[in-house]
Amino acid sequence: MSKFITQPASKLSGSIKVPGDKSISHRCIMLGSLANGTTEVSGFLQGEDALATLKAFQAMGVDIQRDGDKVTIHGVGLHGLKKPNEPLDLGNSGTSMRLMSGILAAQKFDTELTGDVSLSKRPMGRVINPLSEMGAVIESDDGKPPLKIKGGQLLKGIYYNLPVASAQVKSCVLLAGLYAQGDTCVVEPETTRDHTERMLKGLDYQVNVTDNKMCLTGGGELTATQFQVPSDISSAAFFMVAGCIAPQSDITLEGVNINPTRTGVIDILKLMGANLILANEREIGGELLADIRVQSSDLKGINIPPEFVPLAIDEFPAIFIAASCAEGETVLTGARELRVKESDRIQVMADGLDILGIENTVLEDGIKIQGGSFQKPTGVIRSHHDHRISMSFAMASVRCRYTIEIDGVDNVATSFPNFVALSNAIGLDITEI
Ligand code: S3P
Repeated sequence: MSKFITQPASKLSGSIKVPGDKSISHRCIMLGSLANGTTEVSGFLQGEDALATLKAFQAMGVDIQRDGDKVTIHGVGLHGLKKPNEPLDLGNSGTSMRLMSGILAAQKFDTELTGDVSLSKRPMGRVINPLSEMGAVIESDDGKPPLKIKGGQLLKGIYYNLPVASAQVKSCVLLAGLYAQGDTCVVEPETTRDHTERMLKGLDYQVNVTDNKMCLTGGGELTATQFQVPSDISSAAFFMVAGCIAPQSDITLEGVNINPTRTGVIDILKLMGANLILANEREIGGELLADIRVQSSDLKGINIPPEFVPLAIDEFPAIFIAASCAEGETVLTGARELRVKESDRIQVMADGLDILGIENTVLEDGIKIQGGSFQKPTGVIRSHHDHRISMSFAMASVRCRYTIEIDGVDNVATSFPNFVALSNAIGLDITEI
């Protein structure tokens, strides 16, 4: 089990490009595999999660070649996947399991989806329920993985009101809808990331989006295309926070995806008083990108507006570090979903903040954090093998006068393989042992 040891670092400078977006990288592999023709991808995230999806489609007979962040997918069409010889091991990746369930529920063959200890504890009822309504047959361990998906079922389109604002569930149902008879519509209670809808359109599949409803008709085809994966705002978020809280900083994060369904972290940090400037905004392959300049900021505590919650869902661990350095109290509510991520991100962050002497109160659906200063750690911070917890606490080192130890950091490689090198390139001092 690897650890991060961080030393104090107060001066950050330079310009870096964080790796490709995880959500988009998964979808490139899935949709490229199901398309007719060859899809070329650049900027692919070489993280374990996206690679788990890549290997799973290779195991289903898709010829996929990768050279660094360039990937060539020889699509087999919607009906060209083959039965894998073994269960598909999706590691730590909830996105792989939930989105692929939608695709696999409609295949002629049976499949079994497994994952690591963390993924095996995550709720899958949220995809099993709508898929069952469509006619899928899926066995699980009381709503948890492994999932045994029975092939040979004829799916029918449904009109589905999402009970939770989840892009994974929305995407799962829409992907199953590609195979279903008739129309499939998903209505979301709040806006969630829309990469599936955008990318389906990029592959010439019609998706009708009106307000919070997305509909498509089964029985069409996907046409291969080219994808340029922009830098992941969820990875950039760690440095946005570090840049704000470091006493002396001026850093630039290049080519970050600023899709409006993902920019909650920018809005929240700006409300807190962050010195964040977006420059050089451009559109590439249907996604908006910008260079983000971050400078030292005097942050103040806020009540986080509930509408930002799904738009910043993966960035809260980092935002909690910002809140710890803000003047006054920050309150987050309406974020119960954080409890079923790679770890219980409310409790695990609260425990780590306790170790750093930051006063906080855990709420059932959020947290209250009283801004202060990081104290001498009273122990090792337990990441619970959650990549985003590990990386968030590493950022605290720019405002902590003591060494911080964070355990279980191996899973940082699921989303951000060169995290330590990039962090140290702008002035942090992180060692992995
Ligand atoms: C993702 C959606 C989000 C997010 C996850 C990636 C996606 O999950 O937390 O990291 O790629 O669709 P939920 O849909 O469960 O909120």
